[in-house]
Amino acid sequence: MSVVAVLKGGRSLERQVSLQSGARVEDALERLGHEVHGIDVDHDLVRRLRELAPDVAFVALHGRDGEDGTVQELLEVLGIPYTGSGVSACVRASDKVLAKHEMRDAGIPTPDSLSFNETAFKELGAADALGAIEERLGFPLVVKPADQGSALGIKFAAAAAEVPAALVAAFSYSTKVLLERHVAGHDLAVSVLDGVALPIVEAVPVDGQAYDFTARYTIGRTDFVCPADLPDDVTARAQELAVRTHELLGCRGFSRVDLMRDHATGELWVLEVNAIPGLTDTSLLPQAADAAGIGFDELVGRILALAG
Ligand SMILES: Nc1ncnc2c1ncn2[C@@H]1O[C@H](COP(=O)(O)OP(=O)(O)O)[C@@H](O)[C@H]1O
Ligand SMILES: [Mg+2]
Repeated sequence: MSVVAVLKGGRSLERQVSLQSGARVEDALERLGHEVHGIDVDHDLVRRLRELAPDVAFVALHGRDGEDGTVQELLEVLGIPYTGSGVSACVRASDKVLAKHEMRDAGIPTPDSLSFNETAFKELGAADALGAIEERLGFPLVVKPADQGSALGIKFAAAAAEVPAALVAAFSYSTKVLLERHVAGHDLAVSVLDGVALPIVEAVPVDGQAYDFTARYTIGRTDFVCPADLPDDVTARAQELAVRTHELLGCRGFSRVDLMRDHATGELWVLEVNAIPGLTDTSLLPQAADAAGIGFDELVGRILALAG
């Protein structure tokens, strides 16, 4: 039996998702016999952790602060072991631009992209380069903030006229944005647990709706197929890419790698790594674990055992 602090909520845009993940994790940890203390992460986080002095912290936070290394850094300073990836992997995974550079350097296929910060637009005239960028990436192209999750701020621009508004939207979420080549195909999510890829979840939007924030957390608007109905060689390749990317970024314990499979060519492209994937009842990692015969309580128990 351990004293476990479950860190949840926080002030990120993914607060509600994190509260759901955290509540489920708390229930599972209680069933596993631990002494569980839920902490809604706030200004008094350090004080509360010092008071509680838990054996381990289960980090059920998503997005800014919780998934980007900030909270992990505090836990390191306090000497409290915690679940999931360490500071450096969180920093790399939460910055899509950084992660994509690492992938490209390591030969992991990721869609061609360019990125700019606000300064480039405000002070360096980057807007004048948009035409050349669009020519290189083609249409439609994808505009996304460098450091958000849950499809927040992501827009598809079908033509040049739509790019400025998409950039404004992305800049409202982050000071750095990414323009990325669009992949026409389906999302594949490959979760990695203890260095091993779990069965693939394929996310197919119902009625061709965009795979946006609402669809992702509303049951019935997205069909999740797990294990994905893919040829064996594609499954093996996607799982191999996921494990390689997880290792490349130095992730620990678990992660979820998001890929896309091009309908026309069958090519696989890695989009990003989620250092702390969702653990809600519609989340993809628990579904993948379930398909591998690992129930939610066992999953939580294993994630806890991998804390460091
Ligand atoms: N280059 C792309 N081509 C086509 N669809 C994309 C592309 N990038 C993102 N998407 C869509 O947007 C979703 C979210 O993008 P992702 O990069 O995984 O960011 P996040 O999940 O952190 O919001 C993807 O799951 C996919 O459906
Ligand atoms: Mg994603």
